[in-house]
Amino acid sequence: MLSKEQNELITETGPGTPCGRLLRSYWQPVATAEEMPPGGDPMPIRIMSEDLVLFRDDQGRLGLIGQHCPHRGTDLSYGRVEDGGLRCLYHGWLFDIEGNCLDQPAEPEGRKFCDRIHHTAYPVEEKGGAIWAYLGEGTPPLIPDFQFLTAPEPNRLAFRVKQLSSWLQGLESSIDPAHTTFLHRRPPGIRSKRSGTDVSAVRGTHPPAIGTEDTSFGTRIYAIHNSPNGRKYLRVNNYVYPSGTTASQSGDDVSYQGRIYVPIDDLSHYRFEFFYSRDKPMDKERLRKNREKNVAPDLRHVRRAENRYLQNREEMKRDDSWSGMGTHFPSQDAFAIETQGAIQDRTKEMLGSSDVVITAVRRTLLGAIKDIGDGKAAPGQIRDPSQGIFADFICAADYIEDDEDGPSYCRRALAQKQPAA
Ligand code: FES
Ligand SMILES: [Fe+2]
Repeated sequence: MLSKEQNELITETGPGTPCGRLLRSYWQPVATAEEMPPGGDPMPIRIMSEDLVLFRDDQGRLGLIGQHCPHRGTDLSYGRVEDGGLRCLYHGWLFDIEGNCLDQPAEPEGRKFCDRIHHTAYPVEEKGGAIWAYLGEGTPPLIPDFQFLTAPEPNRLAFRVKQLSSWLQGLESSIDPAHTTFLHRRPPGIRSKRSGTDVSAVRGTHPPAIGTEDTSFGTRIYAIHNSPNGRKYLRVNNYVYPSGTTASQSGDDVSYQGRIYVPIDDLSHYRFEFFYSRDKPMDKERLRKNREKNVAPDLRHVRRAENRYLQNREEMKRDDSWSGMGTHFPSQDAFAIETQGAIQDRTKEMLGSSDVVITAVRRTLLGAIKDIGDGKAAPGQIRDPSQGIFADFICAADYIEDDEDGPSYCRRALAQKQPAA
């Protein structure tokens, strides 16, 4: 449970808010690279309550500038891409990717009004199939070299989906090992389409034993399942500063998924999903088809509150799915987080011992917000290009011996310098 003040502190992300400052201290994905190809159209985009336009100029350079023209406020996303920038349709003012005003054709020649205009503009980078922006102050850190961003292109794929809740509810669903046994339960014998593995045979049908550990990048999350085959099965997932998670994949112990929850505003967010396959190119066609089936052109899930998430109680009775909501996990997660209310009232929740990860990550987040407020550096940033990725990062799913636990497994794996998998 949080106090009202803590709940506001941790969910308000607009400009000038403490949590907004934390989230702005790191690069955030704002679109997929596929949405902004060379020659692509400017795209209006709202990020952390700021209305912006993502565009490529006529040289293909990426820019992210304020959506409303500083002259008299017309929407620049309708503008013309020409002459080294984006030109407003109303009176022709022209802005480059750095927010410089290059032209004001309606103003008298020789007047230097242009030089006094500086429009909002943020640095943009493309990495790992996503377009990233830095909305913070000072010199940006680096985008960490997670494998889901640096693997060869055939081995990775990025999507985004819009969800109608606070970003924190999205994050909290992704770090919560206890819910998968219930919300996402499938009858024994149903195989994962991705890996072909019988997931319930690996993870069992009882809630796992859960633990956490503080790390340089955030929080490591352990879940030990008792598999029906009698063996202990460990999943090591992570909370990554400031709004990311990595989720290991059962039955495919060399791959994991990255997820980043980026506030659109305080009542909605984008869930960025980064698929990664270490050893072989992934079946992108299958993943795209699955997405087409489950995500509508408005970027929201097909299953949504307006259609009661297409819940089918016959499906529940037949035990085809536990939720009656098909087998697409992200849609089930969307149901769980959107129906908590746009901003969950955490003054009224009743946390149990299976919520230990939720408590630990909130503590970490509140600590980071406090650190920044005290003038300390944001935690979990990479600034040395030779570092690339966090030395203590590991994301894994594996059978372990009876005398082994999560921390000892990770210590052994990191000491052997096994690739984070
Ligand atoms: S409002 Fe954009 S140029 Fe006038
Ligand atoms: Fe989930």
